[in-house]
Amino acid sequence: MECRAVTRVLSVTSECAPLVKTGGLADVAGALPGALAQHGVKMRTLLPGYPGFIWKLRDTRLRAELPECFGGPARLLEVRHAGLDLLILDAPHLYDREGGLYLGPDGRDWPDNPERFAALSWVACEIANGLLADWQPDIVHCHDWQGALAPCYIARSPAAQQVRTVLTIHNIAFQGLVPATRLSALRLDSADFTQHGFEYWGKISALKAGLIFADRITTVSPTYAEELLTPEFGMGLEGVLMERRADLSGILNGIDLDVWSPEKDPHIIPYHAPVGKLPNKAVLQAEFRLPESEGPLCVVVSRLTEQKGLDLLLEALPVLLERGGQLALLGTGDPELEAAFTRAAEHPNVAVRIGYDEWLAHRMIAGADAILVPSRFEPCGLTQLYGLRYGTLPLVALTGGLADTVIPATPATLAGTPVATGLQFHPVTDSALSNALARLCALRAQPDLWRRMQRNAMAHPVGWDHSAAAYAALYKNLPGITP
Ligand code: ADP
Ligand code: GLC
Repeated sequence: MECRAVTRVLSVTSECAPLVKTGGLADVAGALPGALAQHGVKMRTLLPGYPGFIWKLRDTRLRAELPECFGGPARLLEVRHAGLDLLILDAPHLYDREGGLYLGPDGRDWPDNPERFAALSWVACEIANGLLADWQPDIVHCHDWQGALAPCYIARSPAAQQVRTVLTIHNIAFQGLVPATRLSALRLDSADFTQHGFEYWGKISALKAGLIFADRITTVSPTYAEELLTPEFGMGLEGVLMERRADLSGILNGIDLDVWSPEKDPHIIPYHAPVGKLPNKAVLQAEFRLPESEGPLCVVVSRLTEQKGLDLLLEALPVLLERGGQLALLGTGDPELEAAFTRAAEHPNVAVRIGYDEWLAHRMIAGADAILVPSRFEPCGLTQLYGLRYGTLPLVALTGGLADTVIPATPATLAGTPVATGLQFHPVTDSALSNALARLCALRAQPDLWRRMQRNAMAHPVGWDHSAAAYAALYKNLPGITP
């Protein structure tokens, strides 16, 4: 391949902030292009044209017409928006509908999800093949199962042989399993429907296709990269990952410091030091109708799913409340958890908002003393990073990226000049969480120590600098990509 000063990367993602977001993937996809620009990487982002944002885009340019794109006509649009170079797959038959990105109004997966995201991956391959005369990527970097067929299409496409592929696993719980009867509908070769290809217990696994065919596999923290190799966390794909171990690495997520910095956050009363949190706490308590309190105000901002371990918090909550602590939760998801937290909010020191509210999330993280992340597994996790940046001490489970980002309070890290930035608990049980909440309350009752930990947290590097350099190095070490 011709040597270029700039590495061209096509990022393939099903969500991207600030346009469309259900979780951390959007933040990462939205922040990576900017973070990588200073490392000689020019990234374009391929995204489905969902109805929630497509009409807002101004000055889109038509780049290609695709008369038959998995069941209907589609167009590829190009636009620069919010600092991102976007390629939008405008395929109304796949994306223009009322409901969520992945779920219909009945709360179930859209039945044609396989085709919806196979189309995205297919178009990525077409771009690798030279669909855009003036721009061909050196690397296609796809995210999660929704982009994971791209490495397979590319590997089987003679025109794209020089294009390298990277797959990032943000969450292995979602694998894109499809009945084998859809092989030809997904434009897959039956010769690859084997144990050494994308066959998984008699089905097609989009994620496995990516794991087999991508040149490199990454995930979003070093600890999760290790955990993925075990039956406890690999969710059935640990064997495949073990075989690709040499090509698997963990690169920690960062957060976008232009969006998440207490010094310049337009949604809060800005502050530079922990003492500046006090007026934000008063605002938050008023907003949630919580009384003033001596104990720690803890927040949760989360999807309400099994992964996040919030059922354990319901069990452990009395320990916090008995010690004068408070809980404010913002989240949406599993209807049972929504109902259980709504019931818990009958307590005067518990307040719950069911829903999704990006700005409220900022106010909560600024105003709280602590943020709770009791996840059963957590590939990286972003809210504990927001907590660190805002001096809102994270109390986290010892797993995945939570283990890699929080320095837990222990006798050793609190001795001399304390270096701790939060609390960790293990195993991930309600009794261990209860103990951790009791420790949190005890630490909060020592103002000097707490303040010290807050300063440590606020000084902890959580931006993209280090990780962007790691992605750039990974790209440049791919065969045929010259630094
Ligand atoms: P995951 O991607 O597994 O949901 P992360 O911690 O990586 O977990 O990212 C979650 C992102 O979504 C964070 O930016 C968090 O602030 C945001 N978020 C989650 N739930 C809500 C909500 N109900 N309202 C606002 N933001 C939310
Ligand atoms: C996933 C994970 C989360 C991670 C995010 C972004 O949704 O659950 O831990 O931070 O992706 O990589």
